Amino acid sequence: MDPDYRLVMKPPSIRDYLRLRQEAGLSPKTEEQAAAGLAGAWANCHAIHDNGEVVGMGRLLGDGGWYFHVIDMAVLPQHQRRGVGAAVLTALLDRIRQQAPPGAYVNLLADPPGRRLYERHGFRETAPGSVGMAMRLE
Ligand SMILES: CC(C)(COP(=O)(O)OP(=O)(O)OC[C@H]1O[C@@H](n2cnc3c(N)ncnc32)[C@H](O)[C@@H]1OP(=O)(O)O)[C@@H](O)C(=O)NCCC(=O)NCCS
Repeated sequence: MDPDYRLVMKPPSIRDYLRLRQEAGLSPKTEEQAAAGLAGAWANCHAIHDNGEVVGMGRLLGDGGWYFHVIDMAVLPQHQRRGVGAAVLTALLDRIRQQAPPGAYVNLLADPPGRRLYERHGFRETAPGSVGMAMRLE
């Protein structure tokens, strides 16, 4: 990661979370969703530029034992391709290595912008053995 950035292993503020999702092109969420979601993660990381701006984040859902799910990987477009995403992901995976028993299973749903990054960190496609399935509740 460029030295202009530093990582904080805490969630971003609700305001920064919603802004990062929106500006990185992820689906918009409400303040209510953000507040509950940020309080419910197993691990959080956000990246701050030297100028004080929060520019990137990632979060981990998990049971603390063996099952973990990477979500909300987002870096502002003007700060992408400087290693921030890789640093956030590495920090989250290190947290699992440090705090969970050996043998953790870590998964994610990879949108196209993140696929190379995830592959470089060791993630592999699970299809056709397992395919991702999802639904939205009204
Ligand atoms: C996915 C995402 C989080 C990656 O963040 P990022 O900060 O750009 O990630 P990195 O900088 O660590 O890596 C991205 C690329 O920049 C390259 N890079 C890293 N540092 C670099 C540097 N100093 N100079 C040039 N290139 C660099 C990496 O090698 C990588 O290249 P590759 O994708 O061709 O393999 C970001 O693209 C994003 O927010 N996308 C939109 C939201 C999204 O789709 N999120 C994923 C949901 S699954």
